[in-house]
Amino acid sequence: MSKPKILIPFYSRTGTIEGLAKAIAEGASAEGGEVRLRRAREFVPPDVMAQAPGWKEQADAMNARHEAPTADDAVWADAIIFGSPTRFGAVAAELKAYIDSLGGLWAKGALNGKLGSAFGGSATPHGGNESTIISLYNPMAHLGLIIVPTGFADAAMFKGAGTPYGASVVSGNPPSGPTPEELDVARFQGRRVTQVAKKLFA
Ligand SMILES: Cc1cc2nc3c(=O)[nH]c(=O)nc-3n(C[C@H](O)[C@H](O)[C@H](O)COP(=O)(O)O)c2cc1C
Repeated sequence: MSKPKILIPFYSRTGTIEGLAKAIAEGASAEGGEVRLRRAREFVPPDVMAQAPGWKEQADAMNARHEAPTADDAVWADAIIFGSPTRFGAVAAELKAYIDSLGGLWAKGALNGKLGSAFGGSATPHGGNESTIISLYNPMAHLGLIIVPTGFADAAMFKGAGTPYGASVVSGNPPSGPTPEELDVARFQGRRVTQVAKKLFA
């Protein structure tokens, strides 16, 4: 088969989720996947962004590194691995806006049978990174994606990082990381999704 096509649409404000996304891309590439890493854009007005020092500058820097995700990217992909920081226990609005933009594809059943997976982060260990990842499972089910969790399917899952639902970062406040252990789980997630894509679409 041609290389499995792996789309990684993520939102990150201060870079920790971007770090996980890059590690997932590394894992997928190591397994032979062709990767598109895409950062969902802000849609709040500039005066709102200006209230958080550094938000605009970090967004500009990440946007220079990553294109915005499009519906065509989702059509292209064999697997979509969504990533988001926790916003009050759930997905960030910026990534959710991208998911909501896929309604036309949902209406045509165009994403049925592709793979879906998710990763996330929160400031504190019990601040909601698991609920954020699981909240991403809901739209994946509606879109017809076949959900691929990390499980405890690799040695990386037994080193005190990540979750069986998907890779995660506990960033602290101000945010920092991911740690080497968190990056190992993310690389594993990239490998695992790509391995399943190879088996399913060979
Ligand atoms: C509006 C807002 C809401 C947040 N809600 C939570 C939360 O409910 N629980 C938590 O632990 N962290 C929360 N955080 C912190 C981020 O989820 C966390 O720092 C994340 O790792 C940052 O990722 P990033 O560096 O990729 O932007 C929130 C941050 C913001 C700005």
